[in-house]
Amino acid sequence: MTTPIIPFYKRLDKVIVKAKDCLIYDSEGNQYIDFESGDWAANLGHSNDRIIKVIQDQIELIIHDGLQFRNKEAEDLSVALLEILRMPGGQSVFLNSGSEAVNLGITLAKFFTKRNKVLKIDQSFISAYGHGQISVDNERLLNIPIDKIDAISQYDFQQIAAFVFEPGNSKGLIQFPTAEFVETLAIAIKKSGCLLIANEVTTGFGRTGKWFASQHYTIKPDIIITGKGLGNGYPISAVSITDRISIMFEQDNFRYAQSHQNDPLGFAIGLAVIKTIQELGLIKSSLEKGEYFREALNNLQSKYPEKIKETRARGLMLAIEFHAPVDVEEIYDQLLVGGFITGIKNKTLRFMPPLVITKTDIDKLINSIDNIL
Ligand SMILES: Cc1ncc(COP(=O)(O)O)c(C=O)c1O
Repeated sequence: MTTPIIPFYKRLDKVIVKAKDCLIYDSEGNQYIDFESGDWAANLGHSNDRIIKVIQDQIELIIHDGLQFRNKEAEDLSVALLEILRMPGGQSVFLNSGSEAVNLGITLAKFFTKRNKVLKIDQSFISAYGHGQISVDNERLLNIPIDKIDAISQYDFQQIAAFVFEPGNSKGLIQFPTAEFVETLAIAIKKSGCLLIANEVTTGFGRTGKWFASQHYTIKPDIIITGKGLGNGYPISAVSITDRISIMFEQDNFRYAQSHQNDPLGFAIGLAVIKTIQELGLIKSSLEKGEYFREALNNLQSKYPEKIKETRARGLMLAIEFHAPVDVEEIYDQLLVGGFITGIKNKTLRFMPPLVITKTDIDKLINSIDNIL
């Protein structure tokens, strides 16, 4: 099928016309429970009432202003974000996409360390372009195999500007590196002046049962990247730095400008997202619902050990990995027909619903998977 949109990505032949909370609707009147939160962004659910109101109010005031001005909302959002990131005295800048923010974070690390290599865990995702671009001959982007503690000593950290740590997800595969591996690596990189960048683009804002997934580890990132959930579907991302990195700015002259940097509409949304998560207690409830969901997946595994190889879960970021002979695409397709949007990557079926998902919706999904299996 040819459409006027460049097919960079495999698309379903469905037109989505509206969404509310955990439900989305296509042009034929079909309803789906969205276990992907759009592209892992709508943590509060689609078209959240409070976010709609904030957008309406803010567009009456101002959407965009010049880079040369201060903006109170930007400063309020930065303070709120730094508090939940546990970066007292730090600073943030706001951009549009996760890719931009990760790239800026890496550029900063290279600038301050005067080094040009970047390390990441093999399957983790950095960005759609720039420093993260996948290239077999990119010798400046080093990949360490997940959880291979023995491999750590092979790297010359004196040449590495930053370790970009994605504490979950892994290109949709849902993998959580062990604490021993991450903490050993963090000690090695800090000792040699390499910076630790936590990429929380998909794992932030309560997704894994804490505000941020790097908080499951005893590490102290120098730079934290957020995006997706910060705007609940509206494109805003952030680069946040510790007070130690802020001081480096006072000594070194680094300039960066793009038109929609620190735009007011995004701040109003970001601030409302943080307040809503706080007021609704969504961190705690997503942890509880995640545990309920995990147990249900584990029960499926006990029932179908010949089909399910493994389940992986942290908060409301969950996955089932099937054994090789299982046709996972068929399971995905049947779930879609049954009204469930899930994620698929190789032999893994993925679930990252809005944090407001109900146990009833989780039960419906589990029953459907059970019936299909
Ligand atoms: C871990 C991670 N980092 C960065 C990005 C890029 O974010 P964006 O698509 O907003 O550019 C993604 C996108 O899925 C991601 O999963």
